[in-house]
Amino acid sequence: MNQTTQRPHWSGRIGFILAAAGSAIGLGNIWKFPYITGTNGGGAFVLVYLACVLLIGLPIIIAEIHLGRESQANAVSAFEILHKKGTPWRAVGLLGTLSAFLILSFYSVVGGWVLDFEMRSLLNEFATHDTEAIKGFLDSLFASPWRLVAWHTVFMALTVGIIFGGLTKGIERWNKILMPALFVLLIALLGYSFFLAGFQEALAFIFKPDFTKLTWESTLEAVGQSFFTLSLGMGAMLTYGSYLPKGKSLVGTALSIAFLDTLVALIAGIIVFSVVFTYGQTPGAGPALIFVNLPVLFKSIPGGYFVSVAFFLLVAFAALTSAISILEVVVAFITERFNIANRKTVTAITGSIAWLLGILCALSFNVLKDVKLLGRFTLFDTFDQLTSTITLPLGGLFIALFFGWILGPKAVALAIGTNKGPIAWLILWSCRIAAPVAVAIVLYFGVRGVVSVG
Ligand code: PHE
Repeated sequence: MNQTTQRPHWSGRIGFILAAAGSAIGLGNIWKFPYITGTNGGGAFVLVYLACVLLIGLPIIIAEIHLGRESQANAVSAFEILHKKGTPWRAVGLLGTLSAFLILSFYSVVGGWVLDFEMRSLLNEFATHDTEAIKGFLDSLFASPWRLVAWHTVFMALTVGIIFGGLTKGIERWNKILMPALFVLLIALLGYSFFLAGFQEALAFIFKPDFTKLTWESTLEAVGQSFFTLSLGMGAMLTYGSYLPKGKSLVGTALSIAFLDTLVALIAGIIVFSVVFTYGQTPGAGPALIFVNLPVLFKSIPGGYFVSVAFFLLVAFAALTSAISILEVVVAFITERFNIANRKTVTAITGSIAWLLGILCALSFNVLKDVKLLGRFTLFDTFDQLTSTITLPLGGLFIALFFGWILGPKAVALAIGTNKGPIAWLILWSCRIAAPVAVAIVLYFGVRGVVSVG
């Protein structure tokens, strides 16, 4: 592959963990996890999601980072370097690159909603409006194509701007500052929600499984969410892994990423549902969920102005640190593959393409709202659903198979420092059989359900 220049590396292990956690922790945890837990009925969904993170997510994080680290290359070339030139496995990387475009485009639109709410926070609009009016803020944003596109544009420009800064000065530096700040604020909000009347009910909703609510489609959503939230199945972890020097076990790294990511999702869920149950809102409100109920919380707590300003700012940063990892997949692929020296041009062009696609997503809340696939998915829903429930699980499935069967025990040894003992065995067989079979079954029945209902 065209690796003429020296590849940059993270400044250290912590730098990498924070960047990878920064990629994992994002809108998937704070916006999506609470809302799809709500639409899928709570506890049983959460249990399946947790099981997926542990049994499917963990081994695949190791596999994916390993592919990047051993090949020191982008998501497509990695397969060729580790297998052979022209290998059909490179299709997995290409699918990932395509997923990256689709995800980035709708992700940036939601990032834009966050920015709009940050602006409202700054203008103190939650304190000066009553609860009913606050509940309508997101709808009024949806009704304005101009505003949606403008904020989407700002978000995309920020993403492109950080990637312009390069690896250590752009991606790594911002992650180191912002992720810890987000964490502290979430803990503080968790403290507030503890005193709300709906706290217990929120815990029960999230942690008491009611299996009658579980369907194949919701299982598929749980599997998809575990890939989405861990940034797996499209080469993001692979690309970040490619900036790691070889050596050292990846087990601790993978555990830290999965643990931090899950913790943030669960805390966000508890906060959101405490508010939902305290104020008699509906858990199944869908994508609008956090934008409707959190402002209600901010309105009622002491210092709510500062808390909401800080909250939406940090969520915007969490979203940015994820968005940059998505764009980086495409930029790394194109610059290396076509040997283009000017990274900035590539970043600007690919960012613009995702921006254009994002406009379609933004308009699907108003001008294009009647354009529906399968009778019910708007373009926004299609980009979201198609990636998280199909292309990411499919990508993850093939990454696991490639790692387990094509590379095999030797790769396990390189990834974790040994190919003996229970951990090596678990990782190998989970990648060879357990994870691929589980994902394949859920994909089959889940997709059948979605299509037949549609
Ligand atoms: N994991 C990110 C989130 O939870 C989204 C993401 C998906 C990032 C895929 C990179 C790759 O918000």
